[in-house]
Amino acid sequence: MPEKELADRTLPVGLIGLGSMGSFVAREIMKGEIPGIRLIAAADIRPPSSDLLEELQSHSIPLVQSFEGLGNYPLRLVIECANQKVVAECADFFLSQGVDLLIMSVGALVQGNLFPRLAARAEEKGCRIFLPSGAIGAVDALQAAKLRGLDEVILTTRKNPRSLGKIEGVSLEGLKEAKVVYDGPASEAVVKFPQNVNVAATLSLAGLGPEKTRVRVVADPGVDQNIHEIHARGAFGSFEIRLANWPNPDNPKTSLLSCLSVVSLLKRIQGSVQIGG
Ligand SMILES: NC(=O)c1ccc[n+]([C@@H]2O[C@H](COP(=O)([O-])OP(=O)(O)OC[C@H]3O[C@@H](n4cnc5c(N)ncnc54)[C@H](O)[C@@H]3O)[C@@H](O)[C@H]2O)c1
Repeated sequence: MPEKELADRTLPVGLIGLGSMGSFVAREIMKGEIPGIRLIAAADIRPPSSDLLEELQSHSIPLVQSFEGLGNYPLRLVIECANQKVVAECADFFLSQGVDLLIMSVGALVQGNLFPRLAARAEEKGCRIFLPSGAIGAVDALQAAKLRGLDEVILTTRKNPRSLGKIEGVSLEGLKEAKVVYDGPASEAVVKFPQNVNVAATLSLAGLGPEKTRVRVVADPGVDQNIHEIHARGAFGSFEIRLANWPNPDNPKTSLLSCLSVVSLLKRIQGSVQIGG
């Protein structure tokens, strides 16, 4: 392909948040791992590590302190890797300018009417909102199955008690066997278990919604991976999928699969061949 055509297909992107997830995404783009994606500018309210700052500088990528500062650059896609509050604050700002948005803090979208409001704004402005599969899979199968009706979707998340953190009203001290610490709708799970918020939210948005998606959280001292099991049943039949995730060795706060799912989504956005979905 002639060089000019290639340059025209390059997608200029901005990044909000250079923490665990954002720094991974920034580095993958800077390493050239995502053909057709160019990081134009990044925003964070805190200074990044000196290593990352050096890498950004060596690629002439400016760093601004607020997402509004990204508005000065000719971006076509903004990747949000900050937090739920930032999604609520920045989404209208970018969508109104016709800029696509890739949202990592998906939990923001199952609270209040933010999701339908942003979906309507994207429709009106002719731009797109991307939500990566993150730490789970089968989101494509679930959306296809939904077209003929789903009867039930159940997410069972199994984690070592130390990865679950403090749970109001539940003591996990000295736990010897697996214990179900929550069984209820995703809408409540996302409030009680902020660490699981994105998985439950993505599944809800793809399937039956936060009220009808059932979430079970199991504290299990016998596991050292974060395990997500999804069961879905409907007119299509049924499926079960189990993901046993390791943390990203470079960013232990996030699972490796979540990090890779963003890279994979960016590749699909720019790719000529689309597999799955
Ligand atoms: N969808 C998924 O599967 C998935 C997976 C992992 C993380 N996440 C979500 O992605 C988000 C980022 O995760 P993380 O682990 O990188 O968090 P992190 O705390 O490591 O990084 C967040 C970064 O955002 C910055 N930030 C905060 N407010 C900001 C603002 N107003 N403007 C610009 N920058 C701001 C912080 O300074 C920080 O550097 C979280 O909401 C997390 O829940 C989603």
